[in-house]
Amino acid sequence: MKKANVLLDKSAIIGKVDQRIYGSFIEHMGRAVYGGIYEPGHPEADQQGFRKDVISLINQLNVPIIRYPGGNMLSAYNWEDGVGSKDERPRRLELAWQVIETNQFGTNEFMDFAKKVNSEVMMAVNLGTRGIDAARNLVEYCNHPSGSYWSDQRREHGYEEPHKIKTWCLGNEMDGSWQMGQKTAEEYGRLAAETGKAMKQVDPDIELVSCGSSGSGMPTFPEWEATTLNHTYELADYVSLHQYFGNPDNDSQNYLASTMELDHFINTVTSVCDYIKAKKRSKKTMMLSFDEWNVWYHSHEDDKNLEKWQIAPPQLEDRYNMEDALLVGGILITFLKHADRIKMACLAQLVNVIAPIVTESGGDAWKQTIFYPYMHASLYGKGSSLQTIASMPKFDTKDFTDVPYADTAVTYDEESEELTIFALNRHLQEDVLVQFSMKDFKSFKVIEHIVLENPDLKLTNTALKQNVAPHHSGENHWENDELQVKLNKTSWNVIRLKKQSS
Ligand code: AHR
Repeated sequence: MKKANVLLDKSAIIGKVDQRIYGSFIEHMGRAVYGGIYEPGHPEADQQGFRKDVISLINQLNVPIIRYPGGNMLSAYNWEDGVGSKDERPRRLELAWQVIETNQFGTNEFMDFAKKVNSEVMMAVNLGTRGIDAARNLVEYCNHPSGSYWSDQRREHGYEEPHKIKTWCLGNEMDGSWQMGQKTAEEYGRLAAETGKAMKQVDPDIELVSCGSSGSGMPTFPEWEATTLNHTYELADYVSLHQYFGNPDNDSQNYLASTMELDHFINTVTSVCDYIKAKKRSKKTMMLSFDEWNVWYHSHEDDKNLEKWQIAPPQLEDRYNMEDALLVGGILITFLKHADRIKMACLAQLVNVIAPIVTESGGDAWKQTIFYPYMHASLYGKGSSLQTIASMPKFDTKDFTDVPYADTAVTYDEESEELTIFALNRHLQEDVLVQFSMKDFKSFKVIEHIVLENPDLKLTNTALKQNVAPHHSGENHWENDELQVKLNKTSWNVIRLKKQSS
C-alpha cells in the first residue's frame, strides 16, 4: 500500500466555491428535451408535460444553473420559433444534428421547467446565423417588464412577469468548423462585443459569457482566447471553456490521469485572461465558465448510423461505466482546486444526451454511474475550497508524467461547520493510505465516508439495476490530530466531517 500525507490549513483558502460550478446543460437535441424532461402522455407527466420522475432525480442532484438551448443547435436557432401558440410554431430542419425540431418546447417552457428544478438559467444567443438584433430582442422578451413590442409579446404569451435571466452566453463554440456561421476570432470578437453591448443596453444587470475555444485541442487555441478577449474583455464577465474526455484506446490508467490535461487547460486560459488584463491595464479579473464538460465517446459509432431528419432520435446516449464515474470525480476535484477562477461549470448534459439521468420512453428514469460523484460534489462541496499541501507518490502513464496516485480537494463550510474531503484514488492496482493532518480541525468528527468503487471498471448501470452505487463503509480512523483514510484502488471517496459541540 502506498502512503501519502496531506496538510489542511483553515486559513489557506483558494477561493469561495460558487455553487454554480455544479451546473448542467440541456440542449434541444436527441432525447434531452423531447422524451427526456418533456414527455406529455407519460404516466409521470405533469399538466405541462414535464416528467415528475425526472424532476425528482434532478432535484437530488441539486443543480443550481442550467445552460439552454445549445450547443451546436444554437448556431442556427430562431428563438422566436419556440414562443407563442404551439399550433403556430414551425417545424424546422435542425442543421447541426440533422433532425426535425418541432418547436413544441421553447424559452417559456424551459423557464417553467427550471423553476420546478430550482435552477437558474444560463441562456445562450445565436451568433452563428444571427446576431445583434435577435439577441437584444430575446433579452427584451425575457427581461423587460412591459410596454415594448417584445416584452408585451411575452405577456401575451401568458408570462406577465419578466423571467429576469441573469447569465447569457454570446454564442457557442464559434471556432468550430461544425458550427453554422463559424467565425474567425476577429469576426467573433467584434460581433460578440457589439452584441453584448446591445444586450446590456436592454438590461444592464445581465452577465455575459464570451465564447472560448471548443477545446484545448483546437488548432486556434489559445490564440482564439487572446484575440476574442481583446474585443470582449471589458464587457464580458466570463470566458467559456469546453472539454470532453474518452478512453477509446482502452488505456484506463492513462484515461484516469487525463485531469492533468484539464488542469493545464485551465491554467492556460487563466494566463491568457491575465495577459489581456495586463495589456488593457484593466482592474477587472476575468472569471471562467466551464460550461461544457463530460465523458463523451461511447456513443460515437451508434450515432454514425442514425437516419437523418427524425424527431428526437437517441443521439449521444453514452452508457457510463465505473471508470467514467471516477474521471468525473477527478474533474470535479480539479474544478474545486480552481475555485478562485472557475465560477460556473455545466456537466454536459443532464438527461439522456451524454447525461447522468436516462429515461425509458414511457417507462422509468434511472441514474448512470456519473450521477453519484456529481451529486456528492453538488451536495457537499460548499463553502471555501482549501489549499492543501500534499506529499503524494507519483507515477507515469502513456501521455502524462508525475501523476499523483490520489487527487484530493477539500471544502470547508464555516456556516454549517462542515468539512468535506473529496479523494480519488486513480491507480489501477495500489491502495493509498493518506494521513490528513487536521491541526485546525481537531474537534471535527467523521459523520460519513462515502465510497464509489467496483473492481470491474467497465460495469454500467441499467434501467433495472444500479450495479455501480455508493456504499458508506469507507475506512478511516483518528490518530492524535491525524485522520488516516484508506483510499482503495480506483475509488471515489467523500469524507464528511462536522465540528462536535464541546
Ligand atoms: O454537448 C454536445 C455538443 O458538444 C454541443 O452541442 C456542442 O456545443 C459541443 O460540441
